Amino acid sequence: MHVIARPTEDNLERALDVLSEGGLVVFPTETVYGLGGNAYDDSVVAKIFQYKNRSEFSPLSVCYASLEAAGDDVVINARARLLAEKFLPGPVTVILKRRANSRLSWLCSSGLETIGVRIPSHDTLRYLLERLPFPLAAPSANRSAELSSTTALDVSRSLSANGELFILDGGRSQLGIESTILDLTSEKIKVLRMGAANLDEISAKCDFQLAMEDGSSSKPATHYRPKKKVVINASFVPETCGLLAFGEPFPNKCRRLMNLSRSENLQEAAANLFFMLRKLDETNIDAIYVMPIPQRDVGIVINDRLTRMT
Ligand code: TXA
Ligand code: MG
Repeated sequence: MHVIARPTEDNLERALDVLSEGGLVVFPTETVYGLGGNAYDDSVVAKIFQYKNRSEFSPLSVCYASLEAAGDDVVINARARLLAEKFLPGPVTVILKRRANSRLSWLCSSGLETIGVRIPSHDTLRYLLERLPFPLAAPSANRSAELSSTTALDVSRSLSANGELFILDGGRSQLGIESTILDLTSEKIKVLRMGAANLDEISAKCDFQLAMEDGSSSKPATHYRPKKKVVINASFVPETCGLLAFGEPFPNKCRRLMNLSRSENLQEAAANLFFMLRKLDETNIDAIYVMPIPQRDVGIVINDRLTRMT
């Protein structure tokens, strides 16, 4: 059931409760509606993918109350500071390097070592961000491959196949198109998505040279892939390799073992995927062997991402 509620004080409190208990909330932003939850919690982030029916793991941007607030999770460089001074809070998402000790779910960035940081200006969302002890992983609140939603009703229609959802209704989105995405991690600033913030204005006010990313779309430039060889649908594991198990692991010995979900829960497996691949990749093994994952529900997404790594 979807509850569509005006952002009164009571309803904002309720939204804070839902989020604190690991639930998801839909909120208005100045660009389009967002579907958000605790960015530090793998299972919450996995739920976002499920609600959106995403057919692949592409990174989600993360909303913070301010650039300083993001400092625990990402490295804030001089260009980010300058951009923030002129344009944030507002409709620009900046890609920055993840800090080694960040608590952000690896699923949030689909295993990438960069994070899309968004500092929204909408009052309702700011109210929530200023009171929560965690940032919000928040993609646009629409079913994957559908257009972003700009009204609460659109959201409700687009995500209709799903279960319970608390939707804060802020009326029609002020900007109606998504934020402009700038990658500030490399020497050349790359425009990953053209959006609500005007590029000429950004170059003029910040003195930035902006380079269009080839085939500039909303797709991330790279996908995370482990350095080690990945073997999927394995039916055994060599002794010098690591096993990423699903359910009951193979009985023979191997150098490292991690289990995506002992109880064969696909949701849990999705939440663990990038974290465990990274852990295994850091160890002294020859290759990562992955047990077969059922090709249903979020298992399809997991298999899609694993296939790209082979
Ligand atoms: O205006 C907006 O940005 C809206 C509102 C809700 O905040 N959000 C939004 O989120 O459009 P989403 O997930 O639909 O689009 C964010 C885009 C995705 O295409 C994703 O690939 C890209 O940002 N992105 C996020 N993190 C990234 C990263 N670390 N590297 C490259 N691209 C990234
Ligand atoms: Mg989107």
